[in-house]
Amino acid sequence: MGEISFTLNGQSVRVDGVDPHLSLLAWLRQQGLTGSKEGCAEGECGACAVLLLQPDGVGARFEAVNSCLLPLPCLAGREVWTVEGLGRPEALHPVQEAMLQGGSQCGYCTPGFVVSLAAEYYRKGREGFDLEALSGNLCRCTGYRPIRDAALSLGAPPPQDPLAQRLEAPVAPPGPLAYESPQGCFYRPTSLAELLARLAQHPQARLLAGGTDWGVEVNQRFARAGVLLDLSQVPELQGLVWREDYLEVGAALPLSELERRLAGRVPLLAAWFPLFASRLIRNRATLGGNLATASPIGDGPPVLLALGAQVVLVSLAGERVVPLEQFFQGYRQTVLAPGEVIKAVRIPLPLAPLARFYKVAKRPLDDISTVAAAFALHLEEGRVAAIRIGLGGVAPTPVRAYKTEAFLQGKPWEPRTVRAAAELVRGEFKPIDDHRGSAAYRSAMLASLLHKFYTETQEVAV
Ligand SMILES: Cc1cc2nc3c(=O)[nH]c(=O)nc-3n(C[C@H](O)[C@H](O)[C@H](O)COP(=O)(O)OP(=O)(O)OC[C@H]3O[C@@H](n4cnc5c(N)ncnc54)[C@H](O)[C@@H]3O)c2cc1C
Ligand code: FES
Ligand code: FES
Repeated sequence: MGEISFTLNGQSVRVDGVDPHLSLLAWLRQQGLTGSKEGCAEGECGACAVLLLQPDGVGARFEAVNSCLLPLPCLAGREVWTVEGLGRPEALHPVQEAMLQGGSQCGYCTPGFVVSLAAEYYRKGREGFDLEALSGNLCRCTGYRPIRDAALSLGAPPPQDPLAQRLEAPVAPPGPLAYESPQGCFYRPTSLAELLARLAQHPQARLLAGGTDWGVEVNQRFARAGVLLDLSQVPELQGLVWREDYLEVGAALPLSELERRLAGRVPLLAAWFPLFASRLIRNRATLGGNLATASPIGDGPPVLLALGAQVVLVSLAGERVVPLEQFFQGYRQTVLAPGEVIKAVRIPLPLAPLARFYKVAKRPLDDISTVAAAFALHLEEGRVAAIRIGLGGVAPTPVRAYKTEAFLQGKPWEPRTVRAAAELVRGEFKPIDDHRGSAAYRSAMLASLLHKFYTETQEVAV
């Protein structure tokens, strides 16, 4: 049997005997901390947001995450703040004060907004307020203008602010965990060797990276796993390494962290990040989780296909490197063998000089794509020297538009060529009709997005 201990609103707590699938949100509410709300239980609304403390250089930073998707054992050894820990009715936090000036009506969404606002309020080196911090919070009554006004009214935390002071002190990394209960076991290895040994021992174990996909399965489809293996503290899966001819990204590096560390150096990824879910989700979601789900409408694969990425797979038998095109085997099927883990994603260098990502969805932000397309193009003297087109939402797996790529190869990059290529790509796949879009719409989008890409490459040239 195991025990989970962590720091909640500055106080140590110990928990035992719980189902490892229990979400932090459900547990908090059982404890009477009902500030965090359940709006959707699937990461969409942000009413359940809490703050996790993350190491940041010598000090720390706050990251807002969806507590509905976080299994309680993930908290072991960590520090978490809920809305109750920010202020009290008689001494409201500056963020709470700001929200009271018209930013709240029924109040259901308010604790989640307060938490996301607080994460940004405490961001070190902040100038102004990055409204992206609120991209994972929905409000059904107030409207966003007064909430945005609240955000933009916030100054810097005063030096004596206890939470600002906490961020100056270091954070100990959460160590290994072996939590065993009748409802399942939760292990947190701290090395690749330990992870692979556990996986060999429990071949049916569920790997858990950010849990943004798995958490939805647990909450909405009652998925359960006898053994959960948390990848978050395996250093070999967290790297970001620049080599002469490729960039290697650890499969379990959260997307927000990747975004921060790349700082725009891979423009196609920089264009993709803001269109992927929300800040709350990106604080947890990983590339490895995105690829392993093999969703035909995942956005990561089109981008990585256009980048010519490979995946590094590892097991006790050793490593193998697989081109991403060969990783997807069928609808939600991959080449991953039992006992195998995605270790990293390799992106060849140099990058294509002209690249774009387009996501067609019902909402511009925080939505799943109907069609996604990524283009990466090398031109030489006005001709197509190389082009890769990665697509999602048009086939049972993410795909490359090989026929269209072959047609474009060597041709002048001009309207006549692009018109013919657009007709070709329109007919290259046989998408399905579903509630997001008809097959005809999806095919038409492919042609339209190729035209858009062409137009934008002309704008770059000007
Ligand atoms: C509100 C919301 C919005 C979303 N929006 C988008 C979106 O815009 N675009 C999009 O593409 N997706 C979206 N998603 C889906 C999800 O966030 C992504 O697929 C995410 O990248 C999953 O990563 P994760 O680390 O959270 O995976 P997890 O949930 O931890 O794992 C998912 C699956 O992958 C397996 N796995 C994880 N890591 C590895 C590994 N290293 N090796 C082998 N198997 C592994 C797990 O066992 C599990 O089966 C959204 C999800 C939510 C809840
Ligand atoms: S309850 Fe909606 S995001 Fe968690
Ligand atoms: S105030 Fe009612 S949902 Fe936002």
